[in-house]
Amino acid sequence: MSDGYELLKGKKGIIFGALDERSIAWRIALACKREGADFVLSNAPVALRLGALDALGEETGAPIIACDVTKDDEIEDLMNQTKEHLGGVDFILHAIGMSPNVRKKKEYTDLNYNWLQQTLDISAISLHRVLHHAEKMDVLNDGGSIVALSYIGAQRIFSKYSDMNDAKALLESIARNYGSRLAPRGIRVNTVSQAPTKTSAGTGIKGFDGMYTFADMIAPMGNPSADECADYCVTLFSDLTRKVTMQNLFHDGGFVNSGISEEMINDLAKFYGDKDDE
Ligand code: NAI
Repeated sequence: MSDGYELLKGKKGIIFGALDERSIAWRIALACKREGADFVLSNAPVALRLGALDALGEETGAPIIACDVTKDDEIEDLMNQTKEHLGGVDFILHAIGMSPNVRKKKEYTDLNYNWLQQTLDISAISLHRVLHHAEKMDVLNDGGSIVALSYIGAQRIFSKYSDMNDAKALLESIARNYGSRLAPRGIRVNTVSQAPTKTSAGTGIKGFDGMYTFADMIAPMGNPSADECADYCVTLFSDLTRKVTMQNLFHDGGFVNSGISEEMINDLAKFYGDKDDE
């Protein structure tokens, strides 16, 4: 890891969603620290009981605050504690996603609707709740930056991603809508659409390895790592991107604009016995 560029010197933030070393939020926390930021780390009480986050808290000097993002009172409590530790914040990372339907391998045409509500509440509506309470409780500084992590399932159908496709579409919509409301204060809201990444949430999806390899073969630059995603998020939290807002920004090695790779054409021709190739 480089020494950094002091891009976030003096900035303060809230980082949601670091579970273990592989978590994208964990890598983002390390990158933010490297760039000079101070922040609090937050995760659901059940995730904190695993205890892994303590190590990141020690390494980055960040207080850890429990908060289930589906509960208004817990978010209010988090905002109060954040104020005590940091005063206002300049950036918020939302790296939260969970679908009981995906976990329990429910097909899209046979969803459990209570679980669908939970998927949407945890993975998308939570961004709205967090921004609502942060604004109401005067925790957001003018000129700040909010980033939520998304996935291309919001635009294209990836069958194994089930109701998370819908959750990401809603998440991206909330980012745009809140972005328009916060723009007069110079606060930007964006989603970063990251390529498949080998984390706890990622590998919990049935067929993840196939989706990972598919994206890696099609993207001209290959799949970006969680650390590369972290570097990109640093730029969005920094003052170098002050007028970038209400966007869904693909961080995928070029996947979104690619059709097929040469390697795949050749492999598929061999596999399916393409006569033109002989
Ligand atoms: P992860 O499993 O490390 O992170 C997901 C986090 O959400 C965990 O820390 C979990 O405790 C937290 N969470 C779940 N329910 C919560 C609740 N009620 N309250 C507060 N926190 C809660 O996995 P990863 O991959 O780092 O996920 C972070 C974000 O990146 C998610 O939004 C995910 O959808 C997104 N993403 C992941 C990709 C991948 O392939 N891993 C690709 C594109 C986006």
